[in-house]
Amino acid sequence: MLFGREQELDALAELLDGARAGRGALVWLLGEGGIGKTALAGAVGDVARERGMAVLRAEADELERHRPFGSTASTRATAPSTAPRSTST
Ligand SMILES: Nc1ncnc2c1ncn2[C@@H]1O[C@H](COP(=O)(O)OP(=O)(O)OP(=O)(O)O)[C@@H](O)[C@H]1O
Ligand SMILES: [Mg+2]
Repeated sequence: MLFGREQELDALAELLDGARAGRGALVWLLGEGGIGKTALAGAVGDVARERGMAVLRAEADELERHRPFGSTASTRATAPSTAPRSTST
């Protein structure tokens, strides 16, 4: 449960609507350590999942800073388990 982030969540949920309509967006969440960036990103991910969207998650790790495309590789690693099940028609 996030407190006091209704405005931010509404704005991000609107961007999800845009993404569904073909207007993708890149969002930077900036703020001091512990202010709630990861928590907010997680909450947006939950909203997207509730809407049936696939959510990929990757984390950059200080220890991996010299690994080329480290977080991209990490995203790919999570993809199979986080993608929605395919439906046959
Ligand atoms: N709006 C909020 N309501 C309730 N709990 C929150 C809120 N924002 C953050 N928290 C909690 O505070 C803690 C720190 O938040 P979080 O890890 O998201 O911060 P961060 O900005 O990502 O920090 P860092 O810069 O270190 O990555 C977490 O336990 C998180 O669940
Ligand atoms: Mg964080």
